[in-house]
Amino acid sequence: TASSSTTEKEIVGKAAANVIEDGMVVGLGTGSTTAYAIKELGRRVFEENLEILAVPTSYQSEMLSIEAGIPLTTLSQHPVLDIAIDGADQIDSDLNAVKGGGGAHTREKVVSMSANHFIVVVDESKISDRLDHYIPVEVLSYSRNLVCNQIKTLGGNPTTRMATRKDGPVITDNGNFIIDASFGVIEDPLSLSKELSGCTGVVEHGIFHNVSEVYIGKKDGSFEIIS
Ligand code: A5P
Repeated sequence: TASSSTTEKEIVGKAAANVIEDGMVVGLGTGSTTAYAIKELGRRVFEENLEILAVPTSYQSEMLSIEAGIPLTTLSQHPVLDIAIDGADQIDSDLNAVKGGGGAHTREKVVSMSANHFIVVVDESKISDRLDHYIPVEVLSYSRNLVCNQIKTLGGNPTTRMATRKDGPVITDNGNFIIDASFGVIEDPLSLSKELSGCTGVVEHGIFHNVSEVYIGKKDGSFEIIS
């Protein structure tokens, strides 16, 4: 149910926020699970006088961080982060992840690649033996048809992501379009990742290979860490 899933997300969001130590510079991800981490981190900044700085990965995470009272910085000021925390749309047993369901994967990848340690927080519904989730691909708007054709050549089925409360396509925080590409079961995530990165017009795709640890929230209220 929606409420049990909310609890699972809250458990792991809070658990990840509690890994952050005084003096750290942290990357803060996007989505409903990370939102719990941001809220908990804000509580710790206030109640424990925790001195941290955070780099947000989207307008959503920037707004939530400001609301939570977390001091912000940029990758220009702090190019190396201690820890990044983020959600995921799907993750396999080798810790390959699919992200970008919320359209924020480009900055999420840059921020997490800038971190020494990358913690992903998910509920157990996101865990799968093999990846079969559609892959969000951020593209320059004028390269949409070119990228769709390249995705078809790679065996994928591309769809331009449309907005729900605006006519026309979703525009990302970076001013680009998103192509959601289905490939069925992905046998080799690393080679697909390289092929998508090689497509002209692609800004960034949502396959991640840099996850250090996954916090998995369970229905019984416990959580498990895999690495
Ligand atoms: C944002 O674009 C995504 O990468 C999110 O991290 C992902 O969709 C997870 O979101 P939830 O925690 O809301 O499931």
